[in-house]
Amino acid sequence: MKECFKKIISEDEWLIEENGFKRNLQGHRESLFALGNGYVGSRGVLEEIPYDSYAGTYIAGVFDDTGAIVTELVNAPNPFFLRITCGGEKLDPVAMDVIEHHRALDMRKGVIFRRTVYSNHKKERFAYQSMRFLSMHNKHLGVIQARFTSLDASTEITVHADMDSSVTNAGMLTEGRKRHFQAVELSGAKNMRYMCFQTFEKNILLSYAGRGFIERRGKKKPAGWNIMKFKVKKGESICFTKFFTIYTSYDVDPKKLRSVTMKDLNRSAKLGVDKLMAKHAKAWREKWRLANISIPEAPDIEKALRFNIYHMLICGNREKGRATIGARTLSAEGYRGHVFWDFELFNLPFYIYTDPETAKHMLLYRYKRLDQAREIALKRGYKGAMFPWESADTGEEATPAWSKGLDGSVIKIYTMEMEYHITADIAYGVNHYYTATGDKDFMIRYGLEIMLETARFWASIVRYNRKKRRYEIKRVIGPDEFHEETNNNAYTNILAKWNLLRAIELYRLFCRENPKETKRVAKKINLKNGELKDWRNIAARLITHIYKKNNIIEAFDGYFDLKDILITQLDPNLMPIFPKGVTSRNVGKTQLVKQADVVMLLYLFSDIFGDTIKKKSYFYYAKRTMHKSSLSPSVHAIVGNDAGDPKAYHYFLISLYADLKNIHGNSPEGIHAASLGGTWQAAVNGFGGVNIKQGILSINPKLPIGWDKMSFSLKWKGFTLSISVFQDKVELSFESKKKKDSLRIRVFNILREINANKRLTFERTGRRP
Ligand code: BGC
Repeated sequence: MKECFKKIISEDEWLIEENGFKRNLQGHRESLFALGNGYVGSRGVLEEIPYDSYAGTYIAGVFDDTGAIVTELVNAPNPFFLRITCGGEKLDPVAMDVIEHHRALDMRKGVIFRRTVYSNHKKERFAYQSMRFLSMHNKHLGVIQARFTSLDASTEITVHADMDSSVTNAGMLTEGRKRHFQAVELSGAKNMRYMCFQTFEKNILLSYAGRGFIERRGKKKPAGWNIMKFKVKKGESICFTKFFTIYTSYDVDPKKLRSVTMKDLNRSAKLGVDKLMAKHAKAWREKWRLANISIPEAPDIEKALRFNIYHMLICGNREKGRATIGARTLSAEGYRGHVFWDFELFNLPFYIYTDPETAKHMLLYRYKRLDQAREIALKRGYKGAMFPWESADTGEEATPAWSKGLDGSVIKIYTMEMEYHITADIAYGVNHYYTATGDKDFMIRYGLEIMLETARFWASIVRYNRKKRRYEIKRVIGPDEFHEETNNNAYTNILAKWNLLRAIELYRLFCRENPKETKRVAKKINLKNGELKDWRNIAARLITHIYKKNNIIEAFDGYFDLKDILITQLDPNLMPIFPKGVTSRNVGKTQLVKQADVVMLLYLFSDIFGDTIKKKSYFYYAKRTMHKSSLSPSVHAIVGNDAGDPKAYHYFLISLYADLKNIHGNSPEGIHAASLGGTWQAAVNGFGGVNIKQGILSINPKLPIGWDKMSFSLKWKGFTLSISVFQDKVELSFESKKKKDSLRIRVFNILREINANKRLTFERTGRRP
């Protein structure tokens, strides 16, 4: 296959390959081979849509109601559809015999290359090869080019390459399959195809335009849209190219939708495949310039890491808050495309440090839904802003009341009622962005308001316990969802405390730096004089469980009194198995936790906990964490690496290969967004030892044995740092036009002044951490 595309396909280290067609692996591979550009995502389904395959095309932010339960990401018409028949038989790996089948996802360029050789019932062979991409240069544009060759006999073929609107959403549970749109306009003009669909409930218009060309015997002709017939001689090839553009009524005024979609298509198609590909590849090069991580001694790990990064690059949205990243990206319908805390804590850091502009766009997603968060708080009897546990397009609570539990049975969901921590997680993300970028404009326009309104929420949800003379937060689910309705979850309380204090700090800072604008914000939200004082008082008396029982943070009130059962068995992927007698129904009575909870806290606040608490707490919970969420292993990799747990590398591998090896068994339902970001953090923050301590960037690497060097780029305060970490050495530099620019960075625990345009090397002097 590579031979056919030798001029454009990248080197092996950039390719995720599929060799041979396996029907039962289609779902998994469709997720792995997903394409995207942040605006639209498309599953890597084979163009002919074989039996049992699942075509999925998702436009960021386009949700529709299901009628039965909650709103879901719409599976939109599939523009890559291309069906060929030869002599009446469908060219398809299920319908025909497959002699040869290779596909490669070229991560460097975001292109799928493919070659398949089929044989029909007469043993005549037909070669099919294709390449397709969703442009990173023009997010509305996609291209597919396919070449058919009859290898053994003359034949008659039909080609059908319309947009496939027969797709439906798979339906997660009770809602069942559903098509969310109907065609409201269908037309063709001069070899062009125009289709406009409208979603049923929200009336969003999805505007598609397409243009096709057929090349044979050295001649290029416009293609038709209905089924086209051709006689093909033995050995003859026929090449089909389709360009398409997609817009929605979110992007353009409905009245102009048709003309904008068509104009863009015409302009693009005129440039031709090569030029469009060149622009697309250039945009990708720009993305990788900052996002790539190199680990010369571990090429397999480097490639798998690249896969995780690739999937983040294809879903970073830059539409001023229209959308952010759902739990399963734009690669399938898992969790109905809803957004969780996964984004702010797992994915956001990757964007903050490699593409802060995109990070900003996606943080605006929360800002633009602050009114809904205020409404949720009000409805629940609280003040300020309370963000929904699951969010879709409007920012209203989108958590379903029912879902499937770990054992497959239908269970009631309480997360929307009790998993409050998301509100502080969002504040954490906002503050993280600000700390790393120094973007004051963002803070004054949006961030500060989020910080203050979330703090206000915490101040209204706490209850004072007179007897114990402390503030408490009751009826909570922490990140560990095995335990519902707990009181004083340490994770939630500590984040709440931090949220209160940080809001005060930032408010005071901006009062000094920009009093006029800060006053405007305070006026807008009607911030009262005494509020900040109250917040400080609450923060000081909010129970946090930090010093309980031998320096181990207690996950919540009474956690240590629960039945203590340790994990003893692992499955073939080395993931914990429920100990005998423990099921998903009774696990809440034990100390087993679903995912990193206290350990997550240790990570987020690594500079406030002392080493003893960190180590003791980590090892305690590591023996009791079931990792029944893809959010968990990466966090254990980071904190474990710091604590000297030899298993840390193993946790990293679980996170690294979560989707490549379908470790959680549900990758067909979409790529696990949080695992992608967690993996990146495990590499950069864990092994690379990158951390923020008291607002200062700190680098203290602890590379796994066998890795001599890891190189990456980091955006910090507007500069791009180019960093190489070694076992006992750090090299770094940043460029600036102003020679006098410098940054204060802590390397190996020593604060250093780094001047622009100079490559500096620092050797470790003390012991390895
Ligand atoms: C996890 C949550 C996560 C959600 C979406 C759940 O299984 O427990 O922490 O936000 O999945 O990824």
